[in-house]
This record gives sequence, C-alpha cells and structure tokens, in this order.
Amino acid sequence: MDTLEARVSYEFFKQLLLLLLLMAPLPPSSSEFTVVMPDSSALVDAPQTGFSDSARTDPAEQRAVYEIMEATGNGWATSIPDVCRGRWHGIECMPDTNDVYHVVSLSFGALSDDTAFPTCDPARSSLSPALLALPHLRSLFFYRCFTGSPQPVPAFLGRLGPTLRSLVLRENANTGPIPAELGNLTSLRVLDLHGNHLSSSVPPSLQLLRNLQLLDLSHNQLYGPVPELNLPSLTVMDLSRNLLHGRIPTSFGRWDSLVKMDLSRNRFSGSIPDSLCDLQNLVLLDLSHNRLAGPLPRSLGGLRSLTALILTGNPMSSAMIPKDAFAGLAALNTLILSNMGLQGSIPESIGELGSLRVLHLDGNKLNGSIPKSFQKLQKLTELRVNDNQLMGPIPIGREMLWKMGKKLRLYNNSGLCYDMSYGRYEGIESMSGISYCETESKDAASARSHTTKHYLSSTSRDGGHGRPSSLSSSGAARKLHLAQEELVDLIAPLLVSLLVFL
Ligand SMILES: *[C@@H]1O[C@H](CO)[C@@H](O)[C@H](O)[C@H]1NC(C)=O
Ligand SMILES: *[C@@H]1O[C@H](CO)[C@@H](O)[C@H](O)[C@H]1NC(C)=O
Ligand SMILES: *[C@@H]1O[C@H](CO)[C@@H](O)[C@H](O)[C@H]1NC(C)=O
Repeated sequence: MDTLEARVSYEFFKQLLLLLLLMAPLPPSSSEFTVVMPDSSALVDAPQTGFSDSARTDPAEQRAVYEIMEATGNGWATSIPDVCRGRWHGIECMPDTNDVYHVVSLSFGALSDDTAFPTCDPARSSLSPALLALPHLRSLFFYRCFTGSPQPVPAFLGRLGPTLRSLVLRENANTGPIPAELGNLTSLRVLDLHGNHLSSSVPPSLQLLRNLQLLDLSHNQLYGPVPELNLPSLTVMDLSRNLLHGRIPTSFGRWDSLVKMDLSRNRFSGSIPDSLCDLQNLVLLDLSHNRLAGPLPRSLGGLRSLTALILTGNPMSSAMIPKDAFAGLAALNTLILSNMGLQGSIPESIGELGSLRVLHLDGNKLNGSIPKSFQKLQKLTELRVNDNQLMGPIPIGREMLWKMGKKLRLYNNSGLCYDMSYGRYEGIESMSGISYCETESKDAASARSHTTKHYLSSTSRDGGHGRPSSLSSSGAARKLHLAQEELVDLIAPLLVSLLVFL
C-alpha cells in the first residue's frame, strides 16, 4: 500500500495538473499531425489529412531545420529531402494558400515512451540561431536537451516574434539569467523554464506577456523579490523551489483567471496578502515552506473554487486560526497547516468543510479538544493532529477511525482519548497515547465493565515503536481514494489524449 501511495504522490499530482494545463491551450484537432492554433497568418487552418502532391517545404525554413537538427546532434535529418513531407514526431508544418509548407512547431526530448521526439546529444547540443529563420513558429519544446553542456537561455529567443505561443525549456540544465528579451514574445501563452539552473531575478519585462496563461519557473535558483506583474490571462503560476524572497506581490491577487498558484519552497516573508483571497477561480494555493508570518488572513472565503490550501512550514509564530477563516470554502478537500506554530484551539468551523478529505494540523501548539463538528467530516480519509497539545475525546466514530487506518495520526498530544459511546474500538490499544476516555456515561461504562480504562496522558510517541501509531485496516484503506488520486483518475486519460496532439 505504501508504494501505491508513493506512486500517487502529491508531486505527481502537481506535475499532471501542470502538464494538463500546459497543454490545455492547444485544442486537440482531428488533424493527423499539427498543433494548430488559429491566428491571423496566411496559413490554411484546416485539418490536414494528407499531403497535396505539389506542396513543398519553404526552402529557407528547410535549411533552418537542418541547422537546428544538426545543433542538437540530429544530423540524420539532412538526409530527408523535404522535412515537412518526410516529417518525424516533433516537427509540425502547415501549408499556406500557395501550397508552401511552413514549420509551426519543433519539439525535442524523450518526454514519454509514446512521445518520442528527437532526442538531443546531451554532450554537444545547443539552440541554433537558425530558429530565427522560422517566421511561422508557434511552439518550441526542448526537454532534457542541454544537460551535458550547460548553457544560458539565448537572448535571441526574444526575437522569435509574435507567432510564438509556447516556449518550453524544461529540465535542460540551462544556466544564467532569464533573458529580459523574452518579454518581447508578446503572443506567448506558455512560458515553461522548469527544472533548470537559472539564477537571476524574475525580469520585470515578463509584465509584457499579456497573453500568458502558464508561467512555470519552478525548480531553479531564481532570487530576489518578485516584481509586481499584471498578467490578466494567467491560469497557472508556478514559482516553487527557488530562492525568491520579499513579500508576495499584491498584484498576484488581481489575476482573475488564476487556477493554480504555487510559491512553495522559497523565502517569501511578510504576511499573506489579503488580495489573494479575491482569486475566485483559484483551485490550488501552495505557499508552503516559506518564511511567511502570521496572522492568517481573517477570511479566505473569497476563494470559492479552492480545493487545496497548503501553508505548511511557515513560522506563523503563535498565530491563531481565525474562527471563520475557512468559511465558505465548500470545495476544499485538502487543508495542510502543519508545523506553523499555530496556537489556540481548532475552530469548530473546520467541521463545516464538507468536502474535506485531507486535514493536517500536526506540529503546532493547538490546545483544547478536537471540535465535535469533526463528526461531520464524512469524506475525511487522512487526519493528522499529532504533535500538539490537544486533549479530550476524539469525536470520530469507529468506522471512520478504521477507514483512515495509518492515515490517522494522533500521537504526542496532552491527552486524547477514545469515547466508547461510539462503540468499542479494538484497534485502540495499538494507537500510542490513546486509550478509552474515563468520563463515560454510566450506561456505557457498566455495559463494558470488563474493559480496562485508563486515561493516558502522554506527550510522547510511546507506542513502543517510536513510530507514528497505526491501525490495522489495510484492506479498507486500499480502497480509499485521496482527493489527489481522484483528480489523477480524472485527468490522466485527458492528459494522454492531449499528449497525442502535442
Ligand atoms: C527586446 O527586449 C529588450 C529588453 O526587454 C529590449 O531592450 C529590446 O529593445 C527588445 N528588442 C526588440 C527587437 O524589440
Ligand atoms: C490554549 O492556548 C491559548 C494560547 O496559548 C491560551 O490562551 C488558552 O488558555 C489555552 N486553552 C486551553 C484550554 O488550555
Ligand atoms: C511533541 O510535539 C511538540 C510540538 O507540539 C514537539 O515540539 C515535540 O518535539 C514533540 N515530542 C516528541 C517526542 O515528538
């Protein structure tokens, strides 16, 4: 079961979502080969089911393609007499009204077994300036191409012009700065520089990319404060895993189309701007592992579409969870507030989050008891409240406990106990630090007078194993679906079908 869980990890889910959204702007067509996006150029924008006998690749573009292929170690291409007719996976062409083919898309790198674009020779690949001789280019995709010969992202890419919609340089070991010139690519929908070694600040010129829908600069070494950017079409923004610092710009709250914002694993400080609470279409907000300070925004209720809120690992230093902080978040299924130094009690209102599946409140200084309203969290499959100062009865029925199994963590609190009015629970002995509550109703007590009752006030994980306690219910747990897993189920087929059209 652990491997199953590991496989469908959160990271995986994020990647899928990212890729899905990456490809979403490219509408699948029934065409055999093209990634077609209507624009105002003179290209014939209709499904291409075959080749007109007379159509030929534009000679200048053909020479450019040979050069580009050669620069990536794919010299074999020069033996192909007409690159658009003898095309390979990774080149897309469209004819114009004069039956001349133009190159609209070039892709490199073994993205998956099914998507075998030409691979690059890692030791000596480079981006050829011959790209500038492809005036109809809409999409450029390089995946793991320059890993053996680290090089900067060339500034000349900024001259690719207004036809370019998608620039993807993923995991290429690119070094140096993000060229400010990329801001000149004003038609860009997708800018993906994920997983390189880019070290610079985020250039303010990105502000010019008014049509940008996806911005992924994650997993680099970008530093400095992020400039205020006004990108009204943005749906996905991932700046995670960099060294960015300073406050989260308030302009981020003005991107009305935003679906995903991931700023995790940076060094952002200050408090969470209230403006973020206005993002009505936001589905995922991950600000985890930064240096954000409290207090939490009083109400995140404006985030009506939010399904996942992840704030773990920010030193909110003794902030309380506001009473109605999450009121109105009807779609929320994942709430992760671990290791934030939160104190005070857990608000009753969390029990009103009817869609909640994953709730982590561990590693804080929360005290008092677990609210009775938690009984209403019927969809909960994973609950962590370990490493707090909670006490009193666990307001969760036997079936729920059993269902959660290993995904229920209660250890290291001031004195949590299991209330037998929910029915006897055989697994209780194996849950470190938890026993039956002493204060039972007389009826319940007399009915089970044979059970040993002791109120264990434990502050350590003294289950005898030094490990999180677990219940044995693997059979049922196997059937459980995390919210993430469901999402994966939902989008995986879509993703596969979209990949075909990449
Ligand atoms: C492209 O952008 C850079 C910096 O943002 C600017 O200096 C340059 O003039 C621009 N080039 C063109 C051709 O627009
Ligand atoms: C919980 O902690 C808060 C803040 O430290 C304190 O004011 C309050 O009295 C505590 N409540 C209980 C029930 O211990
Ligand atoms: C128990 O939890 C507190 C946080 O509430 C933590 O500081 C402490 O190290 C934990 N103790 C053990 C034994 O894990």
